[in-house]
Amino acid sequence: MHLAGKHILVGISGGIAAYKIPELIRLLKKAGAEVKVTTTKNALQFVTNLTLQTLSGYPVYSDVFASINEHSTEHISLPDWADLMVIAPATANVINKMAHGIADDALTTTFCAMRKPVVIAPAMNDKMYLSPATQASLRTLSEWENITLLDCASGELACGTTGRGRMQEVNIIAETIEYALTEKKLQNKQILITAGPTQEQLDPVRYISNYSTGKMGYALARACLMQGADVSLVSGPTNLQVLSMPLFLQEKQVHLYNVCSAQEMYLSCETIFPKADITILCAAVADFTPTNIADKKIKKESGQTEMTLSLSTTIDIAATLGAKKRDNQIVVGFALETDHEKEHALEKMQKKNLNFIVLNSLRDSGAGFGHDTNKVTILSNDGEEKNFPLMSKEEVAQIIVSHTLLP
Ligand code: C5P
Repeated sequence: MHLAGKHILVGISGGIAAYKIPELIRLLKKAGAEVKVTTTKNALQFVTNLTLQTLSGYPVYSDVFASINEHSTEHISLPDWADLMVIAPATANVINKMAHGIADDALTTTFCAMRKPVVIAPAMNDKMYLSPATQASLRTLSEWENITLLDCASGELACGTTGRGRMQEVNIIAETIEYALTEKKLQNKQILITAGPTQEQLDPVRYISNYSTGKMGYALARACLMQGADVSLVSGPTNLQVLSMPLFLQEKQVHLYNVCSAQEMYLSCETIFPKADITILCAAVADFTPTNIADKKIKKESGQTEMTLSLSTTIDIAATLGAKKRDNQIVVGFALETDHEKEHALEKMQKKNLNFIVLNSLRDSGAGFGHDTNKVTILSNDGEEKNFPLMSKEEVAQIIVSHTLLP
């Protein structure tokens, strides 16, 4: 997550989920943001002023009449200072007040003056959540252009019942903050991304695969979603989680298609590709697959010292899609090489009819499979070459998006 230099105003109202907000403040600060806090009076029953002040490094604004800085009025200076305000937890009381312009305490007065992006994470008892007044207020707030409204999650509630009313976890709130702050340069773009390894089945208990973890492809999917794209991620088996933000009345998410073999990956891509404006083929697709899948476990015979497998080539997804590419479609491929890197990458870009190829070399330490970092060179079919230093896969994803997808 990347919030370097951002000013974030955290507004806390009086629900039990307030005990999670110190963790949110830490997450935001770790991502590089500066954080200030405003609360309702009741919120301080759940989390102390001292905790919030210590973690944020600033005095907490909870009392309209106790001036923190004698020369300013905080309910105006805080919205001026902030790039974004997040209200978490937002109680039924605060939601209903905010929707109607009621400004009778530090938090709601500050909200009323806030014209920049606001993220709201409601939390309350399920009956209060479903009350017609709360639902109407949520609908009102969700229509305001500067507001990104998270839905409540379902689960165990503080009152002992189970239902819809839990606050979303702080990592989802933090992702939503980054989403609300990111310019939507890929709005209305359909993007297809492949990620991870493929598994080519040998018998009921074995497969052939590679070391790909999918980190690069998932980072790309996240970067594109953050910029407003409609992302379809066709993923081989990985341990990664796909980003999903449960917003009120809609889910902002990466559409995930789980596949195993190269053939399955191709079939998914084939159906999505015609409507994709941009396709990024990041998966480490097997080039060969067992010619026959044994229906029983292949046994070792006594005295056997070697075993020969018959393999057939798989379909080259990049080349097949590249051949069908329309002029208004962009296809980006990857090349992971161990020798004659640039030469091989250029040859692949041409053979597969790609617009760009992202080259990484296994000779660079910290690049390629499994690492959290990568070092890439982006080559374009009009002869441009851009070299980048070692950086996190999140940063590499940003670079790939800005150098290949944005005009
Ligand atoms: O030829 P090579 O496998 O090195 O090419 C790498 C590029 O082609 C990557 O973008 C990869 O996702 C794609 N590829 C593919 N289908 C294959 C093999 C590779 O789409 N069967």
